[in-house]
Amino acid sequence: MTASSWDFQGIDPGAEPPDIDTTIAHNARVWNYWLGGKDHFAADRQAGDRVLAMHPGIVQVARADRAFLGRTVRFLAGEAGIRQFLDIGTGLPTAENTHEVAQSIAPECRVVYVDNDPIVLAHARALLTSALPGTTSYVDADAHEPEAILQAAARVLDFDQPVAIMMLGILNFVLDTGEARAIVNRLLDAVPSGSYLAVSHPTLELGGEANEEAMRFWNEHAKPPIRARSGQEISLFLSGLELVEPGLVSCSQWRPEAGDPGSQVPHYGAVGRKG
Ligand SMILES: C[S@@+](CC[C@H](N)C(=O)[O-])C[C@H]1O[C@@H](n2cnc3c(N)ncnc32)[C@H](O)[C@@H]1O
Repeated sequence: MTASSWDFQGIDPGAEPPDIDTTIAHNARVWNYWLGGKDHFAADRQAGDRVLAMHPGIVQVARADRAFLGRTVRFLAGEAGIRQFLDIGTGLPTAENTHEVAQSIAPECRVVYVDNDPIVLAHARALLTSALPGTTSYVDADAHEPEAILQAAARVLDFDQPVAIMMLGILNFVLDTGEARAIVNRLLDAVPSGSYLAVSHPTLELGGEANEEAMRFWNEHAKPPIRARSGQEISLFLSGLELVEPGLVSCSQWRPEAGDPGSQVPHYGAVGRKG
């Protein structure tokens, strides 16, 4: 990395590292554990292993979700010509992060990441970079507050040009479906036609019955609380959008590429275009 464009919002870059509670499992770290990363603590591994015992497919789900992210961003930056991304619920940096995939196709892509977990903030500072002419920015904000997200993102993204709103594995942390719809609608209202929404979400469908017990355990022992939704409920987030083929499917079956396992996982994925 010789030249980089890197912008933090909502935090002081010279500030002390954020307070990280290592005594209770947090989703970003457990997700990183299931993905084979290194950024987790004993409490995360214990909770991750308990969930794995109840729902042995969870590692496959996490991998399928990341592969879906890669294919989605390749589609958006490639075929759809999108140059701006708002990635809400970023997770810890791993392979094929949104800005890496997008900028490998179009180096000028501008990417704003949003997460509210202090460990994601700490690692974003160290790891997320972007070669000029692209820009990568990180916003420390809560998905429940779309107004604050839009305001911060507007420092980097031009909301008169199309934006891809990435909401992968995040709406499941907005427990009230009406509120989740209102958040999605507020974000979509802020972007012009030709913009996209990408969503992935766990479900009890598609062979996901085991999610029920695993999520009950999670909600008693870890943070933040999570829920599953049916395909019908998830399709509400996409209403009014033109669904990109093949529509709302198991995320592993959304335009699988050579080498993708393609076997069904209980995690929906879809991409919709604002007309
Ligand atoms: C399951 S991970 C998904 C990460 C990434 N989007 C992916 O698909 O691999 C969910 C992420 O959402 C973040 N998250 C959970 N609740 C949030 C909230 N209310 N506001 C912002 N981020 C949140 C967690 O910290 C975590 O990093």
